[in-house]
Amino acid sequence: MENKSQSRRISASDDVEVSTYLEIAKELRGEQLALEPKIPPSKRETVVVIDFGSQYSMLIARRVRECHVYCELVPYDAPWERIASLNLKGFILSGGPASVYNTGAPLAPAYAYESRLPILGICYGIQVIAHQLGGMVASGAKHEYGHAVLHISDEDCPLFAGLPSSFPVWMSHGDEILEVPPGFKALAYTGNSPFAVIGNDTNIFGLQFHPEVAHTPQGKNIFQNFLSGICGCRGDWTPANFVAEAVDKMQRQVGNGRVICALSGGVDSAVTATIVHRAIGNNLTCLFINNGLLRREEPERVLSTFERNLKMDVAYVDASERFLERLHGVTDPEMKRQIVGEEFIRVFEEEAAKLGEVNFLAQGTLYPDVIESSTTTETKASAKIKSHHNVGGLPAKMKFTLIEPLRYLFKDEIRAVGLALGLPEDMIWRQPFPGPGLAIRIIGEVTKEKLEILRAADWIVMNEIKKAALYRQLWQSFAVLTDVKSVGVMGDYRTYGYLVAIRAINSEDAMTADWSRLPYDLLARMSDRIVNEVPNVNRVVYDITSKPPATIEWE
Ligand code: XMP
Repeated sequence: MENKSQSRRISASDDVEVSTYLEIAKELRGEQLALEPKIPPSKRETVVVIDFGSQYSMLIARRVRECHVYCELVPYDAPWERIASLNLKGFILSGGPASVYNTGAPLAPAYAYESRLPILGICYGIQVIAHQLGGMVASGAKHEYGHAVLHISDEDCPLFAGLPSSFPVWMSHGDEILEVPPGFKALAYTGNSPFAVIGNDTNIFGLQFHPEVAHTPQGKNIFQNFLSGICGCRGDWTPANFVAEAVDKMQRQVGNGRVICALSGGVDSAVTATIVHRAIGNNLTCLFINNGLLRREEPERVLSTFERNLKMDVAYVDASERFLERLHGVTDPEMKRQIVGEEFIRVFEEEAAKLGEVNFLAQGTLYPDVIESSTTTETKASAKIKSHHNVGGLPAKMKFTLIEPLRYLFKDEIRAVGLALGLPEDMIWRQPFPGPGLAIRIIGEVTKEKLEILRAADWIVMNEIKKAALYRQLWQSFAVLTDVKSVGVMGDYRTYGYLVAIRAINSEDAMTADWSRLPYDLLARMSDRIVNEVPNVNRVVYDITSKPPATIEWE
């Protein structure tokens, strides 16, 4: 592709990073990692989480996967056919906002009980079990939210194997069980809940508390006990056998077809492309579009990783000028996003057309995106705050069949898979970076000069954060170029330069975030270096706002 040889180098300007990068590259050269044998889906032990709309449902699925048991989250009204082909080992009923005695309250499907497999009901899930199997649930006199201490009354219950006789748990419920169903008994209690854990001898259990949240420190043991001790799972779901299975599936699906995959530099598209490449080799073409809004040395790193180390065919397109022209004079953040999204699609279309017949488009869709769009037990009304343009959303006239090998994985599993595939650590652990890139970190019009200033300041921030060994701990850390100019003094001269803001935040999922309490020394070093090393910047501020009310990005 055009400009292929342009700027292919790893700079030596950053000793720390380049040396680790090269070490990893050396280790990787030509290496193919041994993979464990694949477990076909019909044999893969699976636990199904029936979703009643709790904010924690996805967390339950993650906890199960952390115990190395494959798990799927399905809506409470999913038909049996949806899960019939799985090698089912048990069910978990999630929490949810409803009350069982309200008309139309969601209930567990009959097949969950008819299967005779173990069931674990959590919060609303325990009430569903009590209600459907003949117990009594009522609105609790005392609502219970927050910390409680659980006291075990049946030490022989396999759910509690290896646990102390009392431990802290996290409660969050309004309704409570007044009477357990026939055949059930109380297995543990808290100060406010005599039936905090119930069970019968056909392996149906209910927990009134949330074992999936961090505030229940023994929660993971409870899941482990349920999965191995009660469901009898071996716990052999690993990243390596995921890769083996995904490769096999893709070979069957794609055959001799050709696949295109757009790389962004992030971990999702990198892992997607690497899996597809394992499956079909050079019938995959990766497309890497440089929109001119990337950080310093990013294009070089991406190309070097894929071409040199992973030996993959990458079509590199330097479209910087096109994007910059379209952004000329634009100051509105939403317009910037729209322009970058549209231009990306145009370039993608043009480049894909040059490749001749391509049948498949590989995309790094993750499980949370899939769940978001499929399990809608609650109406999600959300105001449009910022429109996000990712690689998705290509026009319908492009007739590709979509392949999404990461569709059933969480972010941390994708990282583990990436490591199993031999991707370099700096790619695996890269902090999230928005599709519109530096365009939304430059306030006001995007120009070449401003991009250079921001790249230089951002490089210093990243460098210092990495040297302080904070890069992985922070959700994101970056520089913003404001459109404020202020007066300063350097030597005998007055200066009139830009104001740069530093943003460093901690977050679990980007929905909420807290500003990071970075050490003063580190802030001082970043500030000194930015004003000394970056021309036209004479003032640095640190953003100490959380989300909400602010957002992570400034635009
Ligand atoms: P905000 O700024 O909304 O960001 O708090 C939440 C997360 O989303 C990222 N972000 C974007 N990602 N296109 C993207 O692909 C976008 O337009 C965009 N805007 C924000 C942001 O970096 C943070 O991780």
